[in-house]
Amino acid sequence: MSEDAVHDSAFLRACRREPVPYTPVWFMRQAGRSLPEYRKVREGIPMLESCTRPELVTEITLQPVRRHGVDAAIFFSDIVVPLKAIGVDLDIKPGIGPVVAEPFRTRADLARLRDLTPEDVPYVTEAVRLLTAELGGTPLIGFAGAPFTLASYLIEGGPSRSYERTKAMIYGDPQLWADLVERLARITSAFLKVQIEAGASAVQLFDSWAGALAPADYRRYVLPASASVFASVAEYGVPRIHFGVGTGELLGLLGEAGADVVGVDWRVPLDEAARRVGPGKALQGNLDPAVLFAPREAVRAKTDEVLAAARGLEGHVFNLGHGVMPATDPDALTHLVEYVHERTAR
Ligand code: CP3
Repeated sequence: MSEDAVHDSAFLRACRREPVPYTPVWFMRQAGRSLPEYRKVREGIPMLESCTRPELVTEITLQPVRRHGVDAAIFFSDIVVPLKAIGVDLDIKPGIGPVVAEPFRTRADLARLRDLTPEDVPYVTEAVRLLTAELGGTPLIGFAGAPFTLASYLIEGGPSRSYERTKAMIYGDPQLWADLVERLARITSAFLKVQIEAGASAVQLFDSWAGALAPADYRRYVLPASASVFASVAEYGVPRIHFGVGTGELLGLLGEAGADVVGVDWRVPLDEAARRVGPGKALQGNLDPAVLFAPREAVRAKTDEVLAAARGLEGHVFNLGHGVMPATDPDALTHLVEYVHERTAR
């Protein structure tokens, strides 16, 4: 029963570019610090540890579905979870992000990246199973970090503004770089497969920081590894979403890598994004998450702009142009879901 309901959900229909009763909505980072109920259940539990507790993961993943009535859940985890699971010494520092104890700099560091097996992440399989049982007709999105974004954390040792060490490896030792992203692609593929096999009905590949690269370099140094990730999950037939920030110049390539849905940040209007992506792909986006700090009337006006630009699209999944900011008023998100549903009801 619920399998059919999931298959016919507005979210999956929009991803497949089929007619929908209303435009589906979900938010990147919908689970997290913007919700008081999240802060409560996370109290005293470090981020990475919380990702290994299936009941907690289930509760946190369900919180925004219950509160906002979003059209999809996104699995609560982090892009660095598979790296931690194969033994890379890293942590997520509050207010900072992933920090790697010994950054990757030389060929010898490749030995620290073995393949991931389902046995490395039993808590992921269990949490996805619990979730798909609880979610009923609401689809669950699995996700992983793309090779470039993961490599940037490993090489820089943490968040970065300019990716100078990453670029030093790309341009200075392209063979080492190619070997590194090839290993990361295998790990990412395995992590996505675990989630799909346990019941996730779509996947999103986050190449959050790929916008740091010029298109020619993205095509040469990054696209092949990300394309191998998309190809490796093609057989499951679940929609594959590809997203990065500041990727206006890369939108066509994000699609070319093998995505069914291209995520767009707020810098490019969706009609222009559709021209850049070309036919045969759905788009996801793209309200500026900072707009949610403006008065409700302004949020509605900016939302209308997004919906107007999306009018002629083959498939549209409404989202923010990047993740929900922690200080966002949760009520503003709930109203946004209602507003998009109301304005797009057909
Ligand atoms: O609701 C969801 O979107 C699902 C959960 C999710 C998290 N991280 C939980 C999380 C997802 C999809 C991610 C992906 C992720 N993690 C990305 C790609 C998405 C993007 O934002 O571009 C990236 C780059 C990371 C790495 C990372 N992890 C960062 C930059 C941070 C923020 C650090 C901070 O404290 O501001 C994290 C930590 C993290 N991941 C939090 C959450 C809810 C906050 C930690 C906390 O609540 O203590």
